[in-house]
Amino acid sequence: MCGIVGYVGHRDGVPIILDSLRRLEYRGYDSAGIAVIDVDGALTGSKAEGKLSRLAERLDDKPLRGTTGLGHTRWATHGRPSDLNAHPHADCSGKVAVVHNGIIENYASLRDRLIANGHTFASETDTEVIAHLIEENDKGDLVAAVRKTLTEVRGAYALGVISSDSPRRLVFARSGASPLVVGIGENEMFVASDTPAILKYTRKQVILRENEMVVIDSDGYSLTDFLGNPIERDVTQVMWDAGSAEKDGFKHFMLKEMFVQPSVVKETLAGRIDESNDAQLAAELQIDESLLRAVTKISITGCGTAFHAGMVGMYLLRALCKLPVEMELASEFRYGDRVLDPATLTIAMSQSGETADTIEAVKVARAAGSPVLGICNVLGSHLSRLADGVLYTRGGPEIGVAATKTYVSQAVAMVLFALYLARVRHSESPERLRAIGEATKLLPAAIDRCLNASDEIRKAAQRLRRSRSVLFIGRYINVPTALEGALKLKEISYIHAEGYAAGEMKHGPIALLDAKVPVVAIATDGRVREKIISNMSEAKAREAKIVAVANYGDKEIAALADYVFWVPHVDELLSPIVNVVPLQLLAYHIADLEGKDVDQPRNLAKTVTVE
Ligand code: G6P
Repeated sequence: MCGIVGYVGHRDGVPIILDSLRRLEYRGYDSAGIAVIDVDGALTGSKAEGKLSRLAERLDDKPLRGTTGLGHTRWATHGRPSDLNAHPHADCSGKVAVVHNGIIENYASLRDRLIANGHTFASETDTEVIAHLIEENDKGDLVAAVRKTLTEVRGAYALGVISSDSPRRLVFARSGASPLVVGIGENEMFVASDTPAILKYTRKQVILRENEMVVIDSDGYSLTDFLGNPIERDVTQVMWDAGSAEKDGFKHFMLKEMFVQPSVVKETLAGRIDESNDAQLAAELQIDESLLRAVTKISITGCGTAFHAGMVGMYLLRALCKLPVEMELASEFRYGDRVLDPATLTIAMSQSGETADTIEAVKVARAAGSPVLGICNVLGSHLSRLADGVLYTRGGPEIGVAATKTYVSQAVAMVLFALYLARVRHSESPERLRAIGEATKLLPAAIDRCLNASDEIRKAAQRLRRSRSVLFIGRYINVPTALEGALKLKEISYIHAEGYAAGEMKHGPIALLDAKVPVVAIATDGRVREKIISNMSEAKAREAKIVAVANYGDKEIAALADYVFWVPHVDELLSPIVNVVPLQLLAYHIADLEGKDVDQPRNLAKTVTVE
């Protein structure tokens, strides 16, 4: 978490750093700060608790200028959000400043040692030890001092260092899951935690890997390992366009990201279902088909929304590939005494490909000899490099912290993989697989129809926004839809919500129900529709208001429900991809009507690189 930006060039770096930080705010927004080398060659800076706009206000009052600078937006781990704990953190001399993303695990003992050596600390952060260590290690060569410091700190981090003794250079290092990309401009260089932050300035980028350092100046960069050995890496031409990181007239990024879901699904499908409606993934997956035929079990992992998309995949793989499929939250993966072996295919779901829990789970799977398929949105991410094969979701950059379009693209990727695996393993009839392949192509139009109901859903949101709690229920392949609907609502509106397998309601959650606790039931066509209707009746009998997601024209549901969000009929195996859309809209409208910060909900961050 936290966002890091660096700039060295011929322009004033302050507006560039602020603009790039704005695009990284999804990584944390407890406080922000900036440090530059000013026209007199001195290190100077500004910091502010709260969102980036507070820092921008401070800079309006007291402007800074400089052509070499660092910026940071923070998600607090050590030390509460405050001006003092905001990055950058300086050493005692005020010549060196550091920004940092991640955790320094041995910071307490380092801090004690540094205090004993006479250093004084201004903050409660783990980061500040790095600045003081560099000061101690600096014998006139900043890069050597940073390198020596890296041998003393333990943890997973990305960090950036600026020094007035070295005014035209910046030093960055990455260990573990905290990403860093270098952007190459014309006589100017950029560094950021994520590609979209610098897309406006350059599409030429180099991605840092674990245990690598980069030194930038306005003419270029030098990439090395922590020992200083040079590393050659191809420059990547990023295909995302800068506009995809803009709101395009929508009130929030989340709203825009929901409305582009039809085109995102088209992109995820493009070239992957052939004219006969067969899924074709062999070339890009690069996992041997003989290995896929030998698999006896599938184990799926991920966090948050990605876990829910994985769960949709679990039902698809069971239905089409007739394989045992188990799910484990990535944060629990290591502790579950899992039985993994070379015949178990592990599927790791992660939009960012950088989530620390997911990366650790993948390492456990690999250590057990289990082949790993990553389902991921970011090219060159940590997951994409660790996995044996990658299926890219092609969702484009997502800025809203609440995942929407990336969830839908992950679920579609799972459909593609299940269709492909079933064909390779001959576990389902070609006719059935082709029928689903054909139906998949119609998903963009179906999602589009759901989005047309946005205004109706806002009216329902108006009535539901004061709910004490909301229960989401679904069965079978729409259990993950219920979980995802509840997650969306709680994370952006702060209304308590729970997602449940509908049959479990009577074993506990039904005790919560009264006129102030509505029940949202996913009640579309399929093998569980009748059962869900019974569960809705049970809730209605307890005076709960009923919101149903149902297929157009379902009179029985309309008679039972207080509000119906209509969705088009699709094959039951594809229904989660359509049914989630009104639930995303419901969460959005409730949060917006309540005046919540939809794109940056409190306490959250989009990419969680701490365990
Ligand atoms: C965070 C985000 C969630 C996301 C989860 C997993 O908690 O707030 O929206 O689902 O991380 O992220 P990943 O990048 O691994 O999909």
